[in-house]
Amino acid sequence: MSDLRGIAVESLKKTQAEQELKRLAQEISAHDGLYHGDDAPEISDQAYDALRRRNGDIEARFPDLIRDDSPSKNVGAAPSTAFTKVRHAQAMLSLDNAFGDDEVSEFIARVRRFLGLAEDEAVALVAEPKIDGLSASLRYEAGKFVQGATRGDGTTGEDITANLATLFGLPKTISGAPDVLEVRGEVYMDRPAFEALNIAQEAAGKPAYINRRNAAAGSLRQLDASITGTRNLGFFAYSWGEVSDRTWDTQWDFLKQISKWKFPTNPLTKRCESLDEVLKYYADIGAKRGDLEYDIDGIVYKVDRLDWQERLGHVSHHPRWALAHKFPAEQAETKILKIEVQVGRTGAITPVARLEPVFVGGVMVSNATLHNEDNIREKDIREGDTVIIQRAGDVIPQVVEAVTEKRKGRPPKFKYPQVCPECGSAAVREEGEAVRRCTGGLICPAQRKERLRHFVSRDAFDIPGLGEKQIFQFWEEGLIKEPADIFDLERCNSLPADQGGIDPPLQDRGAEPGKRAKSVANLFAGIAARRDISLERFLYALGIRHVGQTTGRLLAQNYGSLAGFREAMTAATDPDGEAWAHLEAIDGIGPIVAQALVDFFAEGHNEKVVDDLDAALTVQDFVQPDTDSPIAGKTVVFTGSLETMTRDEAKARAQSLGAKVAGSVSKKTDLVILGPGSGSKGKKATELGIETLDEQGWLDLIGG
Ligand code: IVH
Repeated sequence: MSDLRGIAVESLKKTQAEQELKRLAQEISAHDGLYHGDDAPEISDQAYDALRRRNGDIEARFPDLIRDDSPSKNVGAAPSTAFTKVRHAQAMLSLDNAFGDDEVSEFIARVRRFLGLAEDEAVALVAEPKIDGLSASLRYEAGKFVQGATRGDGTTGEDITANLATLFGLPKTISGAPDVLEVRGEVYMDRPAFEALNIAQEAAGKPAYINRRNAAAGSLRQLDASITGTRNLGFFAYSWGEVSDRTWDTQWDFLKQISKWKFPTNPLTKRCESLDEVLKYYADIGAKRGDLEYDIDGIVYKVDRLDWQERLGHVSHHPRWALAHKFPAEQAETKILKIEVQVGRTGAITPVARLEPVFVGGVMVSNATLHNEDNIREKDIREGDTVIIQRAGDVIPQVVEAVTEKRKGRPPKFKYPQVCPECGSAAVREEGEAVRRCTGGLICPAQRKERLRHFVSRDAFDIPGLGEKQIFQFWEEGLIKEPADIFDLERCNSLPADQGGIDPPLQDRGAEPGKRAKSVANLFAGIAARRDISLERFLYALGIRHVGQTTGRLLAQNYGSLAGFREAMTAATDPDGEAWAHLEAIDGIGPIVAQALVDFFAEGHNEKVVDDLDAALTVQDFVQPDTDSPIAGKTVVFTGSLETMTRDEAKARAQSLGAKVAGSVSKKTDLVILGPGSGSKGKKATELGIETLDEQGWLDLIGG
């Protein structure tokens, strides 16, 4: 059979379409098995989605060719629920990434600025290899190992106590440990173990694992923990969670202490005193990387002093006191089959290269980003070109350059679309912008679909069993068009077909009717559990341009309730009014974000989306984190200079105690902290009769 993969859907003849649908059904089902059963996906999520999309597109052209075993009939399956969920006593954060030396130098400068350190005060950093495995948390109570968990989404992981208990070299009991001790670190598989495992897999007629990380993941999450025990997994400890009595004051002392307790720590770890020293360490370890028995993908730097770590605190996903300095991307050569454009959630049109699949950095890559139209033009990249692609860490693979010597003939230059390929609306590139955008808003199906994807993503509604693949599938079928439809799915599924019910009902899909009852019930239970949602998640989930998690949280904190927030956004259309002034005065919200918010709510369609959700859900009012604090819920303004801490640190402290920080004084301000040189803001505070404090008064108020 000839290879039809490179032929565009529009050009397929009927007999070819039939063959392709057969191949796609087999291929997708094989990937499903790898993904769900063995934790060993062989292709990226994008490549998987491309297969499904192609299948759907061919079916749309030739509906009479839809197969009984078509992947499009097979949705709604929830992921494995075999492990019990564990809520982490303290969140497991991830790390901010840096790729260049200048970003490391900027990191150190930022730390110094935040802490307001003197020029000559050294910032010692502990530099540790960044192990490419899976993080796990091990809990000890009264010196006994009682629970082990995966990281999961950082807040909730899976209980893998039995599996972790099989790891050789992890202590089951510790003497002289605090009552509660959670040790965190990375589970990995080393080279010899990986090679032995794949030989055994092949001998047993099972697929080989594609890289060591997948092999470690698959081995750790075995339902039968005795299998985990045969896999020779390793562990390096590098941080802690809850600890009842912390006896160390630095990261370095922590590592010494846990090695006394017999936890394995990485022997290459080093304490460094200067930027030069960390960069040299990075280069040295980078040079050794290929000889190590385990995979590393960079170096982690951590501020050694814990009192500084505490002051630095964290932003939503990562601490301000640590940085992952990644090793350079791995590169590979392949061919561009086709250049396509994708329309994102906010209308941004981005070009994507569909590639001849190539193995790079441990995974198979078949799509890479081309960034924007200028990039394609400047690098003169054309369809059919041989190109160098690269992949660094978890970042989307990108096309670096075309190998023009290998170009055959004179392929035409790529014509960038001037209209949205999905809805035909004008695609406009505003002055000074690199990105061309579809102006169709929510009449554009691509934007609506992407919004749905964002709505169910991990930091938004995060519904088990309703990931990207399922939501797209429901979209293609017309079952979910708007976010609120998700909450109507169960009702539609229970209606008979002639009354508009889903046909066939989800549980009757796939080869054996009724077989999916359990996973479909799980899906509905997952959806029902999300009818109650926090305001900050809800605001983030709406997918408003420029509103990420941090802004979502800021808005929730400042407006308290969905009703209050909506009222304020509607009122803020008047740029001279108080509502606009209040919005813009929030520290962390500038005019661009404010405008995006106002524009969003001014659009009738968006209003309806929010109304429908509001009717289907209970959006919880924002809960102030620290109700004991005298400034919780209050709006605070800092002005003038401070002596004991920098402005950034003061703001972060105030926010962590539940205060809202504003940039200007208004009637809504509760408290103004006046430093020397405070000028007009101080005057305004006195005029409005707002309470003011000097720096010492502020420190006394928050308890030092
Ligand atoms: S510290 C709050 N140290 O990298 C800081 N993480 O990209 C928590 N990782 O989720 C992490 N080696 O799985 C830390 N020496 C190391 C590490 C390390 C590998 C992983 C870890 C984390 C991920 C973040």
